[in-house]
Amino acid sequence: MSGADLATDLAGMHLTSPVLTAAGCGGRELAPFTDLAALGAVVTRTVTLDAQAGSPPPRVAETPSGLLHATGAQNPGLQGFLATELPWYGQQGVRVVVSISAGSLAEYGELARRLATASGIGAVEVHLAVPDAYQTGKVLNVVRRDLPRGTTVLAKLAPGGDVVDQARAAVDNGADAVVLCQGFPAMVLDPVTLRPVLGAGGGLLSGPAVHALALRCVWDVHAALPDVPVVGVGGIRSGFDALAMLLAGATAVQLGSVLLRDPSAATRIRHELLDELDRRDLDSAADAVGLAHQQPEGSSR
Ligand SMILES: Cc1cc2nc3c(=O)[nH]c(=O)nc-3n(C[C@H](O)[C@H](O)[C@H](O)COP(=O)(O)O)c2cc1C
Repeated sequence: MSGADLATDLAGMHLTSPVLTAAGCGGRELAPFTDLAALGAVVTRTVTLDAQAGSPPPRVAETPSGLLHATGAQNPGLQGFLATELPWYGQQGVRVVVSISAGSLAEYGELARRLATASGIGAVEVHLAVPDAYQTGKVLNVVRRDLPRGTTVLAKLAPGGDVVDQARAAVDNGADAVVLCQGFPAMVLDPVTLRPVLGAGGGLLSGPAVHALALRCVWDVHAALPDVPVVGVGGIRSGFDALAMLLAGATAVQLGSVLLRDPSAATRIRHELLDELDRRDLDSAADAVGLAHQQPEGSSR
């Protein structure tokens, strides 16, 4: 029987577990396979102001070490989401983080104002597609301004630029935590057509190939900004992968493409994380956060 305490505080949000789902990788459809209420939260697919049809198919392609995806934010629009998806989570007692994206600052403001009047939202995650600190700051400023003070705002950053600068810009403009990070720009070509496999051409890579890259982003941001809460996402497939994110400085983790392969993975990884903590005599998930940055006793390294 495991004794470690998984409850954690993410930027003032009390989570019963540090294990969350990642945007676009599983919501209601996971319910038959996993107890969604036992997760820290479910992050919704990214919602835009108006409904979007998404990218032309194919939208996903396998690589030897991960999944390439370009969904083009297919979603029913904010109104459709609020009417059909959000109430379901409330009925099930699932904490919901709503992922949002927009094409302009005015649209971000509109999304935030309309979410401000909706009930049952645990937090808002702002999807940032471009690794640009200036843009990140402007977007977060608008979203923060138009949401109630009590709503936790997460900034999901895009890799590629200086992730520390981006994180700083996000929190300086009102983000409560950063999510590190989006998938990495990538491509797969078809050996027959000699053209990109995905209908959109390029896409974002996720899965095992990006775990070490995402871990480095978490490490760098925690080293530079130790007081900024970080959520680690990228290639987590096991309890140890989740623990590694905590050790590098993450307060919580999100599971992405592993849920497409195994819809019960969230329950498995939660149990494995408990075992990993117990094995190392760590009393809680919170005790593991940033531990890899500490020098071993007696070491001069
Ligand atoms: C099929 C698919 C759809 C995704 N949709 C979204 C999305 O709507 N919004 C978003 O911010 N990220 C989206 N992502 C990215 C994931 O949330 C996550 O950042 C990424 O997959 C890396 O995590 P992983 O390596 O554990 O899969 C999607 C990923 C996949 C594979």
